[in-house]
Amino acid sequence: MYSEKVMDHFSNPRNVGEMENPSGVGTVGNAKCGDIMRMYLDIDENGVIREAKFKTFGCGAAVATSSMATELVKGKTVQEALEVTNKAVMEALDGLPPVKVHCSLLAEEAIHAALWDYAEKNNIKIEGLEKPVTDIGEKEEDVSETY
Ligand code: FES
Repeated sequence: MYSEKVMDHFSNPRNVGEMENPSGVGTVGNAKCGDIMRMYLDIDENGVIREAKFKTFGCGAAVATSSMATELVKGKTVQEALEVTNKAVMEALDGLPPVKVHCSLLAEEAIHAALWDYAEKNNIKIEGLEKPVTDIGEKEEDVSETY
């Protein structure tokens, strides 16, 4: 049911933890399944993501997608990090079962929430970044239509 990569990132998640004084931190949840993900980003003065950490209270797929999402955003500029969509995360994991697609949305939105926090703290606007939602369940219906 799960790809080897999903199992690997679930069993050995990368970048688990918290961060003191992050440049940006964001928390999103899904009221439907009750899962919550918090993402911390350390961003340098050139807008490059130096470090990413996460804490996920959720299902295995949510752990695997947040682990992969942190790996993908590291070393990227904030602008490039916007391209780390739930689709990109799923592709990097060699796919997810359809019922677990929404878990990857949590990862995308957690990145956005952390970037949003960073932008607000620094009084900047990140082109193409929309205000994240705190409950991803609101977005889920759009997703099931897309996939
Ligand atoms: Fe809710 Fe996976 S079941 S995030």
